[in-house]
Amino acid sequence: MDCSISIRNLIKDFGTTRVLKGLDLEIPAGRFITLLGPSGCGKTTLLRSIAGISDPTSGEIWLGGRRLDGVAPEKRNFGMVFQTYALFPHMSIEKNVAFGLEMRRTPKADIVRRVAAALDLVGLGAHARRLPRQLSGGQQQRVALARAIVIEPDVLLFDEPLSNLDAKLRDSLRDDLRTLQQKLGITSIYVTHDQTEAMALADEIVVMKDGEIVERGTPVDLYRRPSFRFTAEFLGMTNVVETEVRQGECRLPWGAVRPVENPGEPDAEGVAIRPEDLAIEPTDGEHDGVVEQSMFMGAATHYWIAAGGKTLRSIATGGRTAVLGNGQKVKLTAPSSLHLLRTFKPSAGAAS
Ligand SMILES: Nc1ncnc2c1ncn2[C@@H]1O[C@H](COP(=O)(O)OP(=O)(O)O)[C@@H](O)[C@H]1O
Ligand SMILES: [Mg+2]
Repeated sequence: MDCSISIRNLIKDFGTTRVLKGLDLEIPAGRFITLLGPSGCGKTTLLRSIAGISDPTSGEIWLGGRRLDGVAPEKRNFGMVFQTYALFPHMSIEKNVAFGLEMRRTPKADIVRRVAAALDLVGLGAHARRLPRQLSGGQQQRVALARAIVIEPDVLLFDEPLSNLDAKLRDSLRDDLRTLQQKLGITSIYVTHDQTEAMALADEIVVMKDGEIVERGTPVDLYRRPSFRFTAEFLGMTNVVETEVRQGECRLPWGAVRPVENPGEPDAEGVAIRPEDLAIEPTDGEHDGVVEQSMFMGAATHYWIAAGGKTLRSIATGGRTAVLGNGQKVKLTAPSSLHLLRTFKPSAGAAS
């Protein structure tokens, strides 16, 4: 069966507010994509529309060759994991996981086998008889995951499943999710506003803003060569240097000149330099900039460098280098070529 997802011109209005503004999105079978965007941009609304919990105002949603609009959520064979665990509190872990299979009238022996396999997969085989309240938040979220995969879903949908966990649990469950997804190969759509999570998990990231898709790409491509300033700034820290392009080259605030990778860009706003790509070297003599402020973060030291009337961010890694003091003169080294960023403009038909 073809488990690709195709979304065509999807619109969702709440009253007079247009929350999804005509989205088109193709997700190949087996791909893990994250929907990344700020709070309120419509991620949950899109996910709920795919799940069938929310009715789109117009547009189409397809699973392979099958149109899903009008198909009840329980007939879609989608597994879902939400921010809150939503387990039945009075049922044991294994009963919670078995629930979906019982609803589908799966034979008893199969249920026992599949529930045990799903609990093993999420590392909770030994906890089958416990009640949800006897487990930690991270373990409860693993139960929710087991419950989602035990039905052998065509698609897995995640809505910020790690956001209620503390940082350490979040990291370990995130790593496990990645391993599990690679093992299972189920088409997955994962909603998050956390750029680190999006990059760590996804084959591809789809960036959203105000009910529209800004752009999509692999984590590496979007981080290194985003088309839009919005993407560059949402995917981590970046310096945006406004500069004119002349004969394929741009001039940086401290006078260095670099070739531009995409000089033909029609409405460019400037070039992006990631702080970790801006190297600094202390000097007593001729200098490009001066340290304004530093912040030691353990694995890295963050610097604010005054250069040519601008303040630029630089990140130095390598634990053994000394932390430079305020007022220290530095030489700056930018990457050998730079990438122009465009302004994202909302589509004309966006306003309702
Ligand atoms: N049931 C609803 N009724 C009215 N407005 C809603 C409803 N659900 C969501 N919205 C609005 O739709 C927009 C997108 O919400 P949502 O999809 O939850 O965003 P996200 O998940 O990206 O934070 C928000 O402005 C929100 O207030
Ligand atoms: Mg949401």
